Amino acid sequence: MTLRSEPAAPPGARIGSVHHVGRFYVTTPIYYVNAEPHLGHAYTTIIGDALCRWHRLLGDDVKYLTGTDEHGLKIQQAADAAGLHPQEFADSIAPKFAEAWDRLDIAYDDFIRTTEPRHAAAVTELLQRCYDAGDIELGTYRGKYCVSCEEYYSAEELLEGDLCPVHKRVVDDVEEENYFFRLSRFQDRLLDWYTAHPDAMVPEFRGNEALGLIKSGLRDFSVSRTSLKWGIPLPWDPDHVTYVWFDALTNYLAAVGFGSNQAEYRDWWPVDYHLIGKDILRQHCVYWPAMLMSAGVDLPKNWAIGGWLLVDGEKMAKSTGNVVTPLDLVDTVGVDGFRYYVLANTAYGHDGDFSYDGIVARYNSDLANNLGNLAARVATVVAKKCGGIGPAPAADSPLAEHAAAAYEATAAAWDIVAPSRALEATWSLIRATNSHLETHEPWKLEPGPEVDAVLGDALEALRIVTLLASPAVPGTAQTIWERIGLDGAVTDQRLPDAAAWGGYPGGRPVEKGAPLFPRISTP
Ligand code: ME8
Ligand code: MG
Repeated sequence: MTLRSEPAAPPGARIGSVHHVGRFYVTTPIYYVNAEPHLGHAYTTIIGDALCRWHRLLGDDVKYLTGTDEHGLKIQQAADAAGLHPQEFADSIAPKFAEAWDRLDIAYDDFIRTTEPRHAAAVTELLQRCYDAGDIELGTYRGKYCVSCEEYYSAEELLEGDLCPVHKRVVDDVEEENYFFRLSRFQDRLLDWYTAHPDAMVPEFRGNEALGLIKSGLRDFSVSRTSLKWGIPLPWDPDHVTYVWFDALTNYLAAVGFGSNQAEYRDWWPVDYHLIGKDILRQHCVYWPAMLMSAGVDLPKNWAIGGWLLVDGEKMAKSTGNVVTPLDLVDTVGVDGFRYYVLANTAYGHDGDFSYDGIVARYNSDLANNLGNLAARVATVVAKKCGGIGPAPAADSPLAEHAAAAYEATAAAWDIVAPSRALEATWSLIRATNSHLETHEPWKLEPGPEVDAVLGDALEALRIVTLLASPAVPGTAQTIWERIGLDGAVTDQRLPDAAAWGGYPGGRPVEKGAPLFPRISTP
């Protein structure tokens, strides 16, 4: 796996931090089917996709899992409102997620639905193991419950007037016989584990929030309900169905064969990264590792915890009514314009304010004026001054150092799931190349060796940019690759070797083509 905190390469060293090629398993949250996919869901899914694409370039055997969360009261209620059986209802929504991910160029390897038999098998196995370990016991629950969160809240956590802190809706009073997971027994074990794995959660400040939750004391949580019918029955007491989180979290195990395919499970577990939003930090970073400890299952290697996209300061959510549909934005800025915005605009982990003006401004500055402009001007000058054939780069180009530094910084940022920093590093090479062209002004020179030298270097820098940017803008990267005359798919390239200076062979036809990112005019 990736080695963290590699020292900076000494001058002249072969570029590329050491990366031990291996399996790389990444998950998104499984999204509730009560809502259609919106920008918030797309946010996490795009970040995971780009991370996985980066690891495929590194040569890892990647499994990218996403899916849908289809059990529980919230889904039951949404199905009732639509006059459908919950299964029919789920069947009508789940494909919309898959379609949205296809449209956004999400290269997922598996899509799990919690109504599949492989999922039930895993949930049953995990429940039974925790029960056998003595960590699940019967009790009575009295509490305030938010259906939108599918979560109980204590009085201190609620806002004035018994409002859910996330949804600002009145919570329900619920009292029933439940089985409980004895989370309170796990405080020391969790703290010890996280102390031994200090880099497990990124970014660090979000990890500290999880540690704060653990240190402030852990309450047992309910894992079953009798009032609910839409779910997986407890294997030892089928009058109870599993409470939504015990069910949902187990998808990550189910998708790699836990309880159904031992060989697959051994190959893929533990997971390399759970990508989540900060709204589900407690369940993923506190409940889940405790459940796994109880069951004798290895803990995840890493969690990456993102902030929220806000609209006018509020979380974008179906229940808030401020939803932006990703596909509408794709019509304006294209799939890659949208992906780039999501990855580049907000430092991962922090909340980001979404606005239409913001997305257009980013598109115009970084894509139209920088990447698009570089590709267009290189092709234009090659057509005018080099007979349309791309010259080869020089071994000692001043851009070579920039390219090596950009690769190192891009790789280091992906290594800690910091996509905005990775793109910042890649874009620094675009800027260096554009200013290299402006310094030498090859468009003013007569054809000859001087022009060829400048353009060969610019083409080589553009080749490396294309490679490094490809996890974010895969379609555009492939287009540029072909326009500068390179063969095959960008996705067949292997880092770090492919990023080494000198890979552009020269002697290839360069084609200008239509603008990659036509400027969007703003009022
Ligand atoms: O919580 N900004 O599903 P969910 C950024 N089924 N990310 C957002 C977002 C926003 N405004 N809105 C949603 C569930 N997300 C459970 C998860 S996992 C075992 C079960 C993203 O449909 C973010 O990743 O409410 C968040 O964690 C996730 O969608 C929640 O999706
Ligand atoms: Mg939610």
